[in-house]
Amino acid sequence: MSYERKVIDIKDVRRQIDICKEIYEHVNSDGVTRLAMVDTYGCQQNEADSEKIRGYLAEMGYGFTEDEFQADVIVINTCAVREHAEMRVFGNVGALNHTKKARPDQIIAVCGCMVQQEHIAKKLKMSYPVVDLVFGPHELWRFPELLRQVMARKKRIFATENDTGAVIEGIPQVRKEGVKAWLSIMYGCNNFCTYCIVPYVRGRERSRLPEDIVREARELVAQGYKDITLLGQNVNSYGKDLDEPTDFADLIRMINGIEGDFIIRFMTSHPKDATEKLFKTMAECEKCAHQLHLPVQSGNDRILKVMNRNYTREKYIRQVELARSYMPDLVLTTDIIVGFPGETDEEFNDTLTLCEKVRYDAMFTFIYSKRVGTPAASMPDPFTREDKQRHFDALTELANRISGEKHAEYEGKTVRVLVDGETGKEEYNLSSRTNGGRLVHLKGDKSLIGQTVDVKITASNTWALYGEISI
Ligand code: 5AD
Ligand code: SF4
Repeated sequence: MSYERKVIDIKDVRRQIDICKEIYEHVNSDGVTRLAMVDTYGCQQNEADSEKIRGYLAEMGYGFTEDEFQADVIVINTCAVREHAEMRVFGNVGALNHTKKARPDQIIAVCGCMVQQEHIAKKLKMSYPVVDLVFGPHELWRFPELLRQVMARKKRIFATENDTGAVIEGIPQVRKEGVKAWLSIMYGCNNFCTYCIVPYVRGRERSRLPEDIVREARELVAQGYKDITLLGQNVNSYGKDLDEPTDFADLIRMINGIEGDFIIRFMTSHPKDATEKLFKTMAECEKCAHQLHLPVQSGNDRILKVMNRNYTREKYIRQVELARSYMPDLVLTTDIIVGFPGETDEEFNDTLTLCEKVRYDAMFTFIYSKRVGTPAASMPDPFTREDKQRHFDALTELANRISGEKHAEYEGKTVRVLVDGETGKEEYNLSSRTNGGRLVHLKGDKSLIGQTVDVKITASNTWALYGEISI
């Protein structure tokens, strides 16, 4: 697909940071620190976007709270992938009437994928007067300017222009402290799977320059992050829009070359273009986790075709075999949709048999959710919610059984893990991850957080492993 790769001039981003300084003078004139709350729904890309919103808010002098009654500014960063998340957002935005009554000067902003849909922006405008500012993913980089307009004019602002999107560098970020960091390498999606709203709300695929990504990765390592996840809607398309050809495997190799002790993970990979070169690179780069999230969505060829996924069941299985031939210890996870319009019992059964064959370490399963404006929304769908629920329950049972069996295989073995936080529980007070990303609960001193230790796995269940530190 050919289209122009748009880049926002760094000077324009710096201007936004200058506006943050102006807002700082305005809100901190009495020396009292104001508070902001950023509430995030959906995927890791949204988490990464919220880190930028917090970055701007920190430049404006805001501290952070998770209590909406304490917040002077509330930003709700939304997800549009399924209806359920949208309903939760509407419920929570509605509830903010109470906080605004208690704090009439409170500014409430709603942003993210959901508001990029025209019917949602309209609904917020007409039925949710409590909302002062609405901005879509393409406008995030202008958040300071938009917020200043709300503050100065005391009027509601809606910024949800349709756009193909741009690459933007230089936005400040406030990341969660700790061991793990998200690193966006590209934005948008060109795949137009027929059920999915993402390409409509996040625009076309566009890649950051490798040198910008490597610089940021180096900074993260210097700041002490030990577990870096590269993010993109489809990382396997990385670089296709760049003048200097660099593909995703090349990028992994570049990041692997950064000195330091850290793990590289990534998500999400589209099976249509995961390459042998990628698997080989993963196997050869010692910092790259042997972990692959490869959403299959369905195990039936007709459904895959109407989903516009561009691969067959056989091709997918061959790809998994190839990946495992390079990395026998590969941890493989997937996403599956049940109840796609017109999916029959037999077709669903193909998904079950595929899962039995592939044996995923973990599966993320969803009931199809109709998204306004996508091709699947107008496909005939004769099956009832009960039919879909029945399929969903059968798939969940299978997924849990296989995960439980795969976890049981770890028992008695010693594995290397990176300790990444506290659980808040007494018996197993620390959480950690294996190289492949499986969760291991441990007992130990919290000074171990950020360290790699050997652990003997003593117990397991569907969701996690439990172990003792080996000395
Ligand atoms: N309904 C249900 N699940 C969906 N996903 C994307 N769109 C929909 C939808 N309309 C799932 C896919 C995708 C994951 C992020 O969300 O499985 O891989
Ligand atoms: Fe949606 Fe398909 Fe793009 Fe993933 S690859 S974001 S499922 S359109």
